[in-house]
Amino acid sequence: MIILGIESSCDDSGVAVLENGNNLIHNKIHSQTEIHASFGGIVPEVAARQHIISFGNLIQEIKNNNLLDNIDYVAVTKGPGLAGSLLVGVNYAKSLAYSLDVPVIGVNHLSGHIYAAWIDHQNEIKFPVIALLVSGGHTELVLMKSNTEKILLGQTRDDAAGEVFDKVARYMDLGFPGGPEIDNRAKLSKLKSRNLPVTNIKDSLDFSFSGIKTSAIKYISRLIEENGKLSEDLINDVCYNFQDTVVQQLILKLELAVNLYKPNNIIVCGGVAANSHLRSRIIEEFPIPVIIPTPKLCTDNGAMIAAAAFHEGLVSNKSELDLDVFPSLRLVD
Ligand code: KG4
Ligand code: ZN
Repeated sequence: MIILGIESSCDDSGVAVLENGNNLIHNKIHSQTEIHASFGGIVPEVAARQHIISFGNLIQEIKNNNLLDNIDYVAVTKGPGLAGSLLVGVNYAKSLAYSLDVPVIGVNHLSGHIYAAWIDHQNEIKFPVIALLVSGGHTELVLMKSNTEKILLGQTRDDAAGEVFDKVARYMDLGFPGGPEIDNRAKLSKLKSRNLPVTNIKDSLDFSFSGIKTSAIKYISRLIEENGKLSEDLINDVCYNFQDTVVQQLILKLELAVNLYKPNNIIVCGGVAANSHLRSRIIEEFPIPVIIPTPKLCTDNGAMIAAAAFHEGLVSNKSELDLDVFPSLRLVD
């Protein structure tokens, strides 16, 4: 079964062709990072209009590679995300499915992030699984007993993990999105310990990142008062300090969930799962197999949407031609 996956929930236009849930035939992303960087964040209307431009070119490339002839289904992100961005992807998917005479299927973006792990690790995954989903808009701990049984164990009560990476980076003028830059700079730091406080909501698997964000920003402004313009070394140290604090909170709650639910595997997914420190700390911390998609499949892409459609069993011959977008869609109701 060959599924064409379309992703447009935020500022990445992604199109992929995936066979049987794990054979990745084609995976292309048009990133809008440079366009939004000058605004210091994503401008929704600009994102939606850029998707219109990108999808035409992305689909043309698939056609040029003679990959359109064998498509069985078109899967598309229906939410959560920016309404305008989602509308472009869903409309494109419907038109394409109609012209190819194949069904169109709406997919939850958050499921997509989780099923990215199946693309390169399908044979290693054994239920029950605990998935830690860390992205720019979400931070969730999910227990999966099977492909159809997902239980939300915990989530952020305020900012998402990726969001605080971006906000702290912005405070230091490190560009947008800030996560990858903080990751790279932290690698250059010689620090081995942190001094920012780790948030730990008692008796709960919920996260909170706004306190870490505020203490990092206060710490940075104190350093500026004391030193004037921060040296590169000092910025790198702040990046290490902040990053390690975020990672420590994620590990704390993941550890609690693993002790309570005794899963066979841990999956870490979403854009922040591309973070090198998070990847290595989680792998060294847990005795059970930890599965993390390759960084390119952690950030938004069309392959994960096709993978979710396949593994969640969403494919059916009934086409969702009346599909709407759901900007506030949740992973579990
Ligand atoms: O999953 P994603 O591509 O989009 C959403 O669904 O939100 O995640 C984007 C987020 C951004 O906040 C970005 O800063 C963060 O993922 N991110 C990282 C890294 N790469 C991307 N955060 C920390 N370290 C990274 N290497
Ligand atoms: Zn995402």
